[in-house]
Amino acid sequence: MTSTASNPPLAGQVAVVTGAGRGIGRAIALTLAELGSHTVLCGRSREALEQTAAAIQRSGGGNSGRGLEKVAGKSSVIECDVTDLQSVEALAEHIERTFHRLDILVNNAGIGGAGGPLHQLSPDDWDRVLNTNLRGVYYCIRSLAPLMINSKGRNGHIINISSLAGKNALPNGAAYAASKWGLNGLTYSVAEELRAHNIRVSVICPGSVHTEFSPHPGKNAEKMLQAADVAHAVAMIVTQAPQSFASEILLRPTQKP
Ligand SMILES: NC(=O)c1ccc[n+]([C@@H]2O[C@H](COP(=O)([O-])OP(=O)(O)OC[C@H]3O[C@@H](n4cnc5c(N)ncnc54)[C@H](OP(=O)(O)O)[C@@H]3O)[C@@H](O)[C@H]2O)c1
Repeated sequence: MTSTASNPPLAGQVAVVTGAGRGIGRAIALTLAELGSHTVLCGRSREALEQTAAAIQRSGGGNSGRGLEKVAGKSSVIECDVTDLQSVEALAEHIERTFHRLDILVNNAGIGGAGGPLHQLSPDDWDRVLNTNLRGVYYCIRSLAPLMINSKGRNGHIINISSLAGKNALPNGAAYAASKWGLNGLTYSVAEELRAHNIRVSVICPGSVHTEFSPHPGKNAEKMLQAADVAHAVAMIVTQAPQSFASEILLRPTQKP
């Protein structure tokens, strides 16, 4: 991946990151902005998104700005709840109206939900997890993929942030595991649907990452994966050669935490 301030690899591109206000989504947004894209930051809490936008502005980015003069800075903030179809459709309309293109969609927003055995999980908790981690990705792809398909001739990326819990059993986290196993199946299937449109749909499955997402008792935080490690995997995907397709990354820490 080569990048210079005058010619960053994603110059002129537009990226959307859901859940960009903190944790992994924030790190991904910073990295995509650093690589030169105009990054649209989505989430429910405007204040957190504004903080990510300020960090992007401080970092200076590297966007050439061509065609993006209407929006100041290297990012925009849009409140969006991925569980609400109207909210996601409003996001898509804004992007189409403002940029007329979308190159990268990172479906990162996700929640862990209540722990405990499945037979004690309330239907409301089940719905919250599945509606965010799986239905939310469906809503984003449904609303935003058409704009990516219309960007004819360009390469697009949809990157879904899943988990190693989408590859393994997760006792006391069955709803979360089901949402991520579902997300993996969705990703592999949509990848086949969209590859003819030059859109590569890939999934990153990290192990435990040191964020506010959930406590990791007994683990050495310094040895754990960091949000920036997941962002680095996203950077690898969006800067790969155009004729190849790294469709899945399983991400583990180098040393056991
Ligand atoms: N941390 C880990 O150990 C780990 C491991 C593997 C995979 N992951 C996955 O990585 C992703 C990010 O996790 P993280 O560790 O960064 O978690 P986090 O620090 O809790 O951040 C989650 C982000 O998602 C947003 N979000 C939650 N519900 C939303 C909704 N309905 N609509 C829009 N945005 C929403 C939150 O913003 P608002 O609350 O402001 O909306 C927040 O920005 C998740 O999909 C998670 O499953 C995490």
